[in-house]
Amino acid sequence: MQHTTVGIVGGGPAGLLLARLLHNAGIDSVVLESRDRAYVEQRQRAGILEQGTVDVLRAAGAGARMDREGLVHEGIELRFGRRSHRLDFPALTGGRSVMVYAQTEVVKDLVALQLAEGGPLLFEAEVRAVEDGDGGRPLIRYTHQGREADLSCDYVVGCDGFHGVAKHAFPAGVLRSYERAYPYSWLGILADVPPSYDELIYAHSPRGFALGSMRSPTVSRLYLQVPNGTDPADWPDERIWDELDARFALDSDWTLRRGPITAKSVLPMRSHVTEPMRHGRVFLAGDAAHIVPPTGAKGLNLAAADVVVLAEAFARFQETGSADLLDAYSDTCLRRVWRAEHFSWFMTSTLHTDPDQSPFATRLQLSQLDRLASSRHAAAEVAENYAGLPIGPTAPTAPTAR
Ligand code: FAD
Ligand code: DHB
Repeated sequence: MQHTTVGIVGGGPAGLLLARLLHNAGIDSVVLESRDRAYVEQRQRAGILEQGTVDVLRAAGAGARMDREGLVHEGIELRFGRRSHRLDFPALTGGRSVMVYAQTEVVKDLVALQLAEGGPLLFEAEVRAVEDGDGGRPLIRYTHQGREADLSCDYVVGCDGFHGVAKHAFPAGVLRSYERAYPYSWLGILADVPPSYDELIYAHSPRGFALGSMRSPTVSRLYLQVPNGTDPADWPDERIWDELDARFALDSDWTLRRGPITAKSVLPMRSHVTEPMRHGRVFLAGDAAHIVPPTGAKGLNLAAADVVVLAEAFARFQETGSADLLDAYSDTCLRRVWRAEHFSWFMTSTLHTDPDQSPFATRLQLSQLDRLASSRHAAAEVAENYAGLPIGPTAPTAPTAR
């Protein structure tokens, strides 16, 4: 039977980055991914990398194309009450910024590196179960291109997303889940038109939330709050542009450039945390353990932070025989996870309009947004969370100046 040190279930950003970090530390791993390479590389998802994620990709040797093609952003714009307010990240955080570089591109870069230099990465390898094997070692049972196989591992890491199977290896009663669903979704579009803005726009409006983002200097990525259950077919292109125009409208002159829409999809939103993130020799990382609503762009960054902590813990165990960081993994990650859960919930509930929202609740949202626009302390709280908190067991809850 095949054997590896770390069996990684799932070849999304968490699994691929973990494999890269372990490879750099001289620890062997195998990545099993159920989908094919093209699907994984084209799945349209997150677009913003925190400063810490950028630093980690560079240090891992996966930052060359990101540094050439990524767009450094030093702030975001908040729009509400038909006015615009900028949050200046370096000024508010002691020099931190973010990078606009799509998840699709991060995944392409990590796949290329893994195939060129790393251990095995199998596509179309669907894990059916993670079970107890000989001598307390876990066993991954999977089907690769129609053939059943087993992989024995010293450790297994479930990087298999929200619907993953690795968490089912935890005995009944071990896991506890916390969840919040939201009464709205996002309609996301890609359009072949240069963005009409230099920095991302997060807009509160009486018609609902809108977000202006980008994929490159020539491709816009935009989102609209829509009711749960919305069918993208009910949103012809003109209707989307008219609604974006209405939600981004300012008292001053401002024009949203329109162009051909090349993709439309609806994303539901939820907050979800599964604790603990480790049982015995099985670990969970990324969306397999926690989901955030996308307002605030934390999902991909949290996945990266988890695997950085885990790779350091494996490296320390290999070098010194000490399992202290492995033992601390779940607590270390969950502290940061819950901070990001709070921030994502805060951004979501401050900027969206609940279908049953009272006028009182709307006035509270506007008061909160006014506070962000007028108080350096309030703005710094959002800027620190957005640009990203430090990663690791000894990380303080406030970022250190760079
Ligand atoms: P995933 O990216 O989900 O990767 C898990 C991988 O495991 C997948 O490749 C999957 O095919 C594989 N897998 C699953 N089950 C098995 C199995 N049994 N065997 C083998 N492989 C398996 N975040 C933002 O910040 N902004 C956004 O706009 C945004 N949009 C999103 C849209 C959608 C539809 C989704 C689902 C997420 C979005 N996110 C967004 C969140 C962000 O993309 C995720 O947090 C990020 O992908 C987490 O990475 P991951 O590797 O943990 O999980
Ligand atoms: C993007 C997604 C987000 O959730 C966000 O807060 C900012 C940008 C994006 O896809 O570009």
